[in-house]
Amino acid sequence: MSPAPVRVAVTGAAGQIGYALLPRIASGQMFGPDTPVILNLIELPIEAAMSALQGVGMELEDGAYPLLHDLVMTSDLAEGFGDCDWALLVGSKPRGPGMERNDLIKENGPIFVGQGKAINDHAHKSCRVAVVGNPCNTNALIAMHNAPDLPRENFSAMTRLDENRAKAQLSCKAQAFPITAVTNVTIWGNHSATQFPDFENARIQGKPGREAIDDPEWLENGFIKTVQQRGAAIIKARGSSSAFSAASALIDHVVSLTTKTPDGDSHSVAVCSDGSYGVPEGLISSFPILADGAGGYSIRQGLPISDFARAKIDASVAELQAERDVIKELLG
Ligand code: NAD
Ligand code: LMR
Repeated sequence: MSPAPVRVAVTGAAGQIGYALLPRIASGQMFGPDTPVILNLIELPIEAAMSALQGVGMELEDGAYPLLHDLVMTSDLAEGFGDCDWALLVGSKPRGPGMERNDLIKENGPIFVGQGKAINDHAHKSCRVAVVGNPCNTNALIAMHNAPDLPRENFSAMTRLDENRAKAQLSCKAQAFPITAVTNVTIWGNHSATQFPDFENARIQGKPGREAIDDPEWLENGFIKTVQQRGAAIIKARGSSSAFSAASALIDHVVSLTTKTPDGDSHSVAVCSDGSYGVPEGLISSFPILADGAGGYSIRQGLPISDFARAKIDASVAELQAERDVIKELLG
């Protein structure tokens, strides 16, 4: 007997990331090859968006995905989040060239008030919420505060794209292939230009980053900056922000929260801080996460934090606190 379908709400479903994401969910790459899915696709109540969504819906039908058991297309949040098990909050404005992600906060932040409330009122209380729309950590904070009936640990924001970017850079620099030679890469803090991609606790063919790559100048400057600025570099090169790599990272994000983390490794997810590693409780900050494979997760404890790393993490956390101050009226 096949498992019960997972009902997944996706906002911004007619956007760039949505277009790359939906066929992968429908083909079983997010919830596994035996788990049917029902997609609740949510778009803005404007003609262009709803028309584009109809087109995406037609393509999903034409994909003839055996696991896709039903498709709902709506701009109504009560219907869209109704009975959902997962809410993937992608819909929001992307930044343009020359902007930082938190320049979007005034425009995008309010979206997550209404969506948080609708999730609170219409989704299952066990619904898990993953925020992609930027600035994603603070938008997740807004959604979490507006959905007080759901457990705080059900909210996350996506820093997996940063982890994947960091792995690719380390793998290339160390000439360590395939990329699975690089493990234990933690992104600390905010999905922003202050994030700290932790090369010290990373393992490259089993060796700590500083041992595997004998180039401290590159590690401490070039590497960190490349990862922090990768989103901006893609916007400059492509004229629009990352899309299929973001969709792919969201698949990884959900898989890593729902399947047991391989022994000796961890993955980066921005979750509500419990005070671990000196990050103030209640902020949505990126940590190394261990999933138990039964739906639960914990923040991995005991990683050594050098003075160098401490200063970087503190700077990113300070930015999260400043973002929270800017939107405090949206926290209910
Ligand atoms: P896009 O402009 O191509 O698509 C966004 C879609 O969201 C549009 O179809 C729009 O109509 C819809 N939308 C806007 N407001 C909405 C609302 N209130 N409800 C429902 N739908 C709404 O943008 P995109 O490239 O898909 O990017 C989406 C977001 O993801 C942006 O904020 C971008 O910065 C962010 N992003 C985050 C990461 C990450 O790593 N966390 C990576 C890439 C992009
Ligand atoms: C990314 O990291 O690619 C996204 O957050 C988009 C952006 O604005 O950089």
